[in-house]
Amino acid sequence: MSNEPRVTAIVLAAGQGTRMKSALPKVLHPLAGRPMIHYVVDAAVQAGASDVVVVTGHGRELVEAYLEKAFGDRVRTAVQAEQLGTGHAVSMALPQVRDDAGLLLLLCGDTPLLDASELAALVGQLRESDRPLAMLTVRPSDPTGYGRILRDGNGLISGIREHKDCSLEERAIAETNPGVYVARAPFLRDAITRIRPDNAQRELYLTDVVALAAKAGGVSSTLVREPMNVAGINDRAQLAEAEDVLYRRIADAHRRAGATVRTSARIDASVIVEPDATIEHHVVLRGQTRIGAGATIDAGSVLTDVTVAAGANLKPYTIATSSRIGEKAQIGPFSHLRPDSDIDQDAHVGNFVETKKTHLGKGAKANHLAYLGDGDIGAGANIGAGTIFCNYDGFKKHRTEIGEGAFVGSDSQLVAPVRIGKGAYVATGTTVTRDVPDDALAIARVKQDNKEGYASKLKARLAAGSKK
Ligand code: UD1
Ligand code: CA
Repeated sequence: MSNEPRVTAIVLAAGQGTRMKSALPKVLHPLAGRPMIHYVVDAAVQAGASDVVVVTGHGRELVEAYLEKAFGDRVRTAVQAEQLGTGHAVSMALPQVRDDAGLLLLLCGDTPLLDASELAALVGQLRESDRPLAMLTVRPSDPTGYGRILRDGNGLISGIREHKDCSLEERAIAETNPGVYVARAPFLRDAITRIRPDNAQRELYLTDVVALAAKAGGVSSTLVREPMNVAGINDRAQLAEAEDVLYRRIADAHRRAGATVRTSARIDASVIVEPDATIEHHVVLRGQTRIGAGATIDAGSVLTDVTVAAGANLKPYTIATSSRIGEKAQIGPFSHLRPDSDIDQDAHVGNFVETKKTHLGKGAKANHLAYLGDGDIGAGANIGAGTIFCNYDGFKKHRTEIGEGAFVGSDSQLVAPVRIGKGAYVATGTTVTRDVPDDALAIARVKQDNKEGYASKLKARLAAGSKK
C-alpha cells in the first residue's frame, strides 16, 4: 500500500441547493442523524482517501464548522466564493491538494448513498490502467437533467454532454454521468486549465475534462450496480427516500451482526447495538446511544444518547435522553428518563415515572406514577406510587436523598433538600420537610375521624340543596 500513489478526495459542496427551500445549506441536511456531507466524506475515507478537501461556498461557515467538529484536521476546505461551475470548483480545491497526491477522487457533497467499496474498486481500476481518468456511469430510470455519456464507434467514452447542451438524439442516451471520477493528479491539474465556459450555462464544466482524457489515453468506466448508490439529493422528497435506504442499510448491518431489528425501527448511523439485542417496531434510537447484548427495546421507545447495559428490558414507549440504564434494569412502559438519569442494575422504573438528574441504586424500585428529580435513591429502596420529589422552590433546585432499603409510602411529598435515612419508613401520604433518621418512621398526616351513620344524613342534605 505504501508505494501506491496517495489518494486525495475532492468533494464539491459549494452549491446552494435551492430546491431544498431551506436556510440550512443542502449538504448539512441530516439523514439518519448525520448531515449528508458526513456520509460522502466517510465513503471517501473508507475508499482509501488519506486526505479530503471539501469545496465550500453557500453557507460555508456552517459547513466548515461541522466538518471541523466531525473530522478535525482530516478534512480541509477550499472556498469557492462564486459558483462558476463544477470545473471551477475543482480548480479552487487543487491548491489545497498536497503535491504527493497521485490520484484524485472527485465526488459531490449531495450523494450520501455512495458505496465505499464501489469507489475503492474505481480507484483500483485506474491504478491498474495507464489511463488518466476512470469514472462511474449509471442508467437511471429517467435520464432527464443528467449529463449523457458519449461513446465512439468502438464503445469507448469520448466525452460528456450536459442535458442542456444535448441534441435531441443525444437526449435519447440512457447512460448518464453520476459525477464520480478518479483522475491522475498531473493530468487533472493540466486539464482543468484547458476547459472553457462555452456552453448553455456559461459555466466551467468539470465534465469537459472527460473529452480531454479520452484524447490523452482513454477513460475507464464502471456501470454502478445500483442507481440509488449515486443518487443526488436535490429536494426533501429525495432526501426522505435516501434516508429510508440508509435506515434499511443500517438495520441490515445490525441484523448481520446478530441483533434483531424490526422493519419499522429507525436506528441512527451513530448508534451501537450489541448482539442479541432486540429492537422492536417503531423504536427510534438516536445520537450516542448504545444498546447492550441481549437488551430489549420494546415498541415505540425513543432513546437519545442513552447507554443501555446488557439484558436490560425497556418496555413499550420508554422515552429517555442522555441517561444510563444498568444491567437487567426494567424500565417502562411509559417511563420518561430525562437527562442524567442513572439507573443501576436490576432497578425498576415503571409507568408514568419521570426521572431527572437522579440516581436509582441497585434493585431500587419506583414502579408507578412518580416525579423523581435531583435525587439519589439508595440500593433496594422502594418508592411508592404518587411520590413527588419537590425539588424546585421557584428559584433553585434541591436534592433528595433516600437511604438504602428505605420505604417511601404512596402519595408522599419529599420537600428538598431532604434526606431519608437508611431503612427508614415514610408513611403513606406524608409530606416530609425534615430529614428522617436511619430506621425511623416518618408520619405527617391528619388523624382520621369516622362519624357513624353520617353518610346518609349528608347525602340527604346535599340532595335537598340541589333542588332549590
Ligand atoms: C453535474 C454534472 C452532470 C451530472 C450531474 C450528476 C457537470 C457540469 N455536470 O450536473 O454531468 O450528470 O452532476 O448529479 O459537472 N458545485 C460546486 N460549485 C459550482 C457548481 C457545483 O461546488 O460552481 C457542486 C454542487 O454543490 C454539487 C455538485 O457540484 O454538489 C454538482 O453540481 P450541480 O449543479 O448539481 O451539477 P449538475 O448540473 O447536477
Ligand atoms: Ca445535481
